[in-house]
Amino acid sequence: MIPRKLLFILAYYPAVTFSHENNALPQPSADALAVSRQLQALINTEIASRGGWISFARFMELALYAPGLGYYSAGSRKFGAAGDFVTAPELSPLFGHTLARQLAGVLAQGVPEIIELGAGSGKLAATVLEALAALGQLPQRYRILEVSADLRERQQALLQSVLPQHAGLVEWLDRLPEHISAAVIGNEVLDALPVHRVRNDHGNISEIGVTATEAACAWSTRPAAGALAAAAASLQLPDDYETEISLAAPALVTDLAQRLERGCLLFIDYGFPAREFFHPQRNRGTLMCHYRHRAHGDPFLWPGLQDITAHIDFSAIAGAGIAAGMDLLGYTSQAQFLINCGITALLAETPAADVARYAPLAAQAQQLLSPAEMGELFKVIALGRGVAAPLQGFSRGDKSRSL
Ligand SMILES: C[S@@+](CC[C@H](N)C(=O)[O-])C[C@H]1O[C@@H](n2cnc3c(N)ncnc32)[C@H](O)[C@@H]1O
Repeated sequence: MIPRKLLFILAYYPAVTFSHENNALPQPSADALAVSRQLQALINTEIASRGGWISFARFMELALYAPGLGYYSAGSRKFGAAGDFVTAPELSPLFGHTLARQLAGVLAQGVPEIIELGAGSGKLAATVLEALAALGQLPQRYRILEVSADLRERQQALLQSVLPQHAGLVEWLDRLPEHISAAVIGNEVLDALPVHRVRNDHGNISEIGVTATEAACAWSTRPAAGALAAAAASLQLPDDYETEISLAAPALVTDLAQRLERGCLLFIDYGFPAREFFHPQRNRGTLMCHYRHRAHGDPFLWPGLQDITAHIDFSAIAGAGIAAGMDLLGYTSQAQFLINCGITALLAETPAADVARYAPLAAQAQQLLSPAEMGELFKVIALGRGVAAPLQGFSRGDKSRSL
């Protein structure tokens, strides 16, 4: 299970390209392909109704979230060994247990609840609540906003089975509350929001969108306009350069900031500050697809059956939060954050002599912390209002100035 390692390689060696031809993807079942063909037909209909072209962001939204058919909306197994990729909470309970220490610190400041965005299988909620109960610092409520009805059902089933004594604390939201006093958390949620694609040729910015051929979708460019053109122009992209721009991720941060009365936003994801994200060598962007633990670069393959994702421009996230009046409370690597929050002490609670329990936990800690795995590529950013800084996770090695 090494998709994140592949992501890491692509991120640091942008000249490397992955294609499904040489990456030997396993063939989906006939049933799965039939669902994908239904989604392709829906996408083709939308493209036709819009004059033969849609933005890549709209394509990604349909491919991931079209009701009943999109990757996150349909019933396929996504996380873990039997799925397509592994996230930190799926990899190890140490992740949620360590994050809980940071959340306990925020709750101790009188912030009453936790809101989790995009809770996936529900494992992060389960491990965070388990650890907060052990610390005697349970929140008044743990609310989850999940766009996928299928995942919401899975979260409910998991929490009921592994944490029945605390399941009553958990509520599911249909939309963001108007007023928020909470620690809002999101692990690998920003990277699942739809992105636009742009191209710069000698200062002419085009938007790389999507058209339909008989068999599949294909790239198609046209002049960029509106907010996207303005965002691209402000980046002063190198010549002959293609990249992704997320309008949705900063917009989500702005929306949260407008509702946040007191508390913080903690986002964990893979990405860089703008200077690295838009590095001249990363001239074809960071778009990446995952299917059965293989990473490749063709988002038009089997719509609805594979994950599509792009790295995060953390400068844009920080900029949106600050512009909306929040404080930037910290930005650092996942490794530094977890170490600051005490992951090594947590690991040490299991005696090394108890090899059967200790060895797997130590291997998981290595994956979470190693610079060659998730430790450096993944970052943690905190923005907030009315919360005392520094937060424990950023007490050492804060890199806010790099944003
Ligand atoms: C890559 S998965 C990560 C899941 C989980 N946080 C984890 O780390 O395993 C992305 C999750 O975000 C959800 N999601 C995407 N857009 C969302 C939005 N606007 N609001 C809430 N959840 C969203 C998806 O349905 C999915 O549960």
